[in-house]
Amino acid sequence: KLADLKGLKRGRLRLGVLTTAKYVAPEILGAFCQVYPGIDVSLKVTNRENILERLMGHDDDLYVMGQPREINDQIQTIPFAPNPLVMVASVEHPLAGRCAIPLSALADENFILREPGSGIRDAVLAQFAAGGLVPRVRMQLGSNEAIKRAIVGGLGIAVLSLHSLTLESGGGRLALLDVEGFPIMRRWHLVYSRARELSLIARTFLDFAIDYEPEIRARLAEAEENFASLRDRLV
Ligand code: PGA
Repeated sequence: KLADLKGLKRGRLRLGVLTTAKYVAPEILGAFCQVYPGIDVSLKVTNRENILERLMGHDDDLYVMGQPREINDQIQTIPFAPNPLVMVASVEHPLAGRCAIPLSALADENFILREPGSGIRDAVLAQFAAGGLVPRVRMQLGSNEAIKRAIVGGLGIAVLSLHSLTLESGGGRLALLDVEGFPIMRRWHLVYSRARELSLIARTFLDFAIDYEPEIRARLAEAEENFASLRDRLV
């Protein structure tokens, strides 16, 4: 026990997280560092493809990401907090407030899509493809934040993680659209490679993050409150 504590006094934790997890990862790290103030933390925020590359290259100790496509016994994945992907429009959009919009009704909308390599982008394209549809892409953007601005600016509609729509964002100018097949209900996973032994610090953070999950759900509930129209479908 004493040796354990000593090991946790100093050291490094390297985390790699999806762009959708950047909204909560600093909060978890903040709480963790209050308990273990001697630990240096680095946080890499990038898209799914880059996170997968980092996982394969053993660049970080732990990852917050979606389900890796190819699971092998070298990769450990632990289901973590929900990551609902929602259809977002300007509050001024004619479809805002409409109920049960068929996906086909969006065929003529201008779409703002994330960059190639983004997990959200793949999920959106797959959802449209399942309905035999292709979104009309007006613009590609590599940032969830920029996408929100573009929506407010009237450039189109987009799919975003509910995590990116916390209380302060959007300034009341964004609406969730009630579209068939949305939200796409996904989950994050805590992921690491078994090829390397998890450090004591990484193991401790893993347990800490798992215990922290209810707080993350509370953040989601806050965001959801903000867009009461979808409340019933998200719980
Ligand atoms: P990304 O995030 O679009 O930044 O790759 C994907 C996800 O949240 O699953």
